[in-house]
Amino acid sequence: MQSKKMEEALNKQINEELYSAYAYLAAAAEADRLRLPGFVNWFKMQYHEELAHADRFFNFILERDGEVELDPIGKPNINNETPLSLFEKALAHEQHITQCIFNLKDLARAEKDYATDVFLEWFVNEQVEEEANARGVIDQLKMIDGNPNGLYMIDRELAARQPEESDA
Ligand code: FEO
Repeated sequence: MQSKKMEEALNKQINEELYSAYAYLAAAAEADRLRLPGFVNWFKMQYHEELAHADRFFNFILERDGEVELDPIGKPNINNETPLSLFEKALAHEQHITQCIFNLKDLARAEKDYATDVFLEWFVNEQVEEEANARGVIDQLKMIDGNPNGLYMIDRELAARQPEESDA
């Protein structure tokens, strides 16, 4: 069983992950407003991934005989975005989540909570991938510099994103 302090921090991360899901869902709606179905697909996939992340924390807390406490989820800050600003916000948010995971790691180590430390390893790796994915699309969007043909091609590429095995 984890300490009360660790349990509170893990519960807070459930909220962070659910907020992430909510923010990506808002981004999907915004992409629909921009008439970019591939972007909608990408953000919806990401929404599902974030729900799966929240689930991992939820299951882990209960597995260790802890208590889950669910707090209110904040309103996403997504308004009048451009394709580029949507991904810049996604990257900034993922960088914030990476820091959250590192803080959890620090706490687990300080508490000699080896089970939580190992559990968090998956998220450390996942964050590398999540940041790289957002950065990759930002690079492409900067390269095309608003060119409609380029945007069409990127949208088609984002339309091809499929759910990952690990999220099932
Ligand atoms: Fe759950 Fe995008 O980090």
